[in-house]
Amino acid sequence: MASDLIALRDIISSSIDKIVDVCASTGKDFPSLDQPIHLSEFTPDGIRNHPDVSSSISLVVAAAFQLIATVQAPASTLTTSAFQFALPVSLGIAEAANVAEIIRPAGSKGMHVNDIAPKSGMDPKKLARILRFLATNHWFREVAPDVFATNLLSSLLDTGKELTENFAATKHQNSPGLAAIVGYGSDELMKSMLCMKEVLTEPETAFSEEVNETGFQKFFKTKLSHWAYYETPEGKFRRDRFAVAMSGLSKLQPPEAILSGFDWSSVPKGGLVVDVGGGTGHVSLEIVKAFPELNVVVEDAPGVIAKAKEYWEANLPSHVSQEKVDFIGLSFFDPQPSLPSPPDVFLLRYIVHDWSDKYIIKLFRRLRDAAGPSTKLVIVDSIIGYACDAPSTYSLDEGPKPPAPLLSNMGGANLIPYTIDLAILSCINSGERTIDGHNKVIEAGGWKLVEVRKNPISKTWLPTLVAVPA
Ligand SMILES: C[S@@+](CC[C@H](N)C(=O)[O-])C[C@H]1O[C@@H](n2cnc3c(N)ncnc32)[C@H](O)[C@@H]1O
Repeated sequence: MASDLIALRDIISSSIDKIVDVCASTGKDFPSLDQPIHLSEFTPDGIRNHPDVSSSISLVVAAAFQLIATVQAPASTLTTSAFQFALPVSLGIAEAANVAEIIRPAGSKGMHVNDIAPKSGMDPKKLARILRFLATNHWFREVAPDVFATNLLSSLLDTGKELTENFAATKHQNSPGLAAIVGYGSDELMKSMLCMKEVLTEPETAFSEEVNETGFQKFFKTKLSHWAYYETPEGKFRRDRFAVAMSGLSKLQPPEAILSGFDWSSVPKGGLVVDVGGGTGHVSLEIVKAFPELNVVVEDAPGVIAKAKEYWEANLPSHVSQEKVDFIGLSFFDPQPSLPSPPDVFLLRYIVHDWSDKYIIKLFRRLRDAAGPSTKLVIVDSIIGYACDAPSTYSLDEGPKPPAPLLSNMGGANLIPYTIDLAILSCINSGERTIDGHNKVIEAGGWKLVEVRKNPISKTWLPTLVAVPA
């Protein structure tokens, strides 16, 4: 219906007007796609993190996605969708070939592919095709035939480091983590997804909830879970890259987002926050930067926890030297270690979605056993919505409904949790939950959900669920 086209156009047009108004009132320009990223993007100062701009961006993106699906010839959409794998594959090649670091010194003039390729160990004719495909998708710019320069998106692939002899081995260490997301996504994740069709349809695995009966095992021909594989010598590079990629995911929202997602000032001075499955502990580190009187325990698998200690020594050495942070290598399905006092907070970011119901209930019970009467379970994870209106047993303050004809879950503006949902299904047999799904496992684990907070600064940032002992 042409009326849908008009409605979508109007959503885009009025939302862009709002963005332009905020630019005018704040005196900030909107970043150009042709320029490398500015670091303010990752702070509340970034224009995209302004609350009005952030909500307008969601509307523009949701409407633009729906407009393309509506207006483009359906067979074209089918073909580009069916072959869309070419994008992560090409991004993975550009990342592995270190193209962003190689072309950085050339700036906006760009570098000829004949000068890039020898440094990548690639055939220039083939690399040019990869980079041209990426430039056509707005990653890199082809500024003259076969000459490529960085742009807003491709600059995210740049670790900011100088190229060294054995660059690949250390490339991601202490990097911003965005190139690591691409490396991880185009490697073990995509390989697991490649095998998902068989895993979901073969009778031996179709109904499994086991963490080691997934595409990951099929591709890598192992019986080890993705997590157990990371603890092997063969898995070490991927384990370390994954830990860095997790800190890169924090770039989806500024590090400070964790501070506005929960009232950390309500935790008593000198209180204890246990960062369960904390990885490098980068999330709890942001909390104690703002609340230095808090003590932290970072818990994770033994190999990861060694990296966590290094991370804190590099990023907040004062907390380490004052012995206000402890690092405990464990499996969190075992009983919790004895702590000086029951924790004030068990913090779980991106943990609940990693486990199918039977496992996460077991973890919640372990935490419940170690909790005191005032311990809070603070879960920072996605809450997935249906792609239609749906009643739920727990009422969420979602704010106004998206304007028609947008989907109630904001469609293309909200793809990340739905993509992660399938990604973690493919490699660890887990998934994102609806609010009712969260409520069910929280209750079964001996806790009571008392608060669900959309981040007050931006609805697109991860929400927080707070539970207390039942
Ligand atoms: C998705 S990451 C989240 C890391 C961190 N919370 C964050 O938000 O960046 C999941 C973490 O759980 C850890 N993990 C997986 N299985 C575990 C287990 N059985 N015991 C302890 N940690 C585990 C992984 O090593 C990884 O660091």
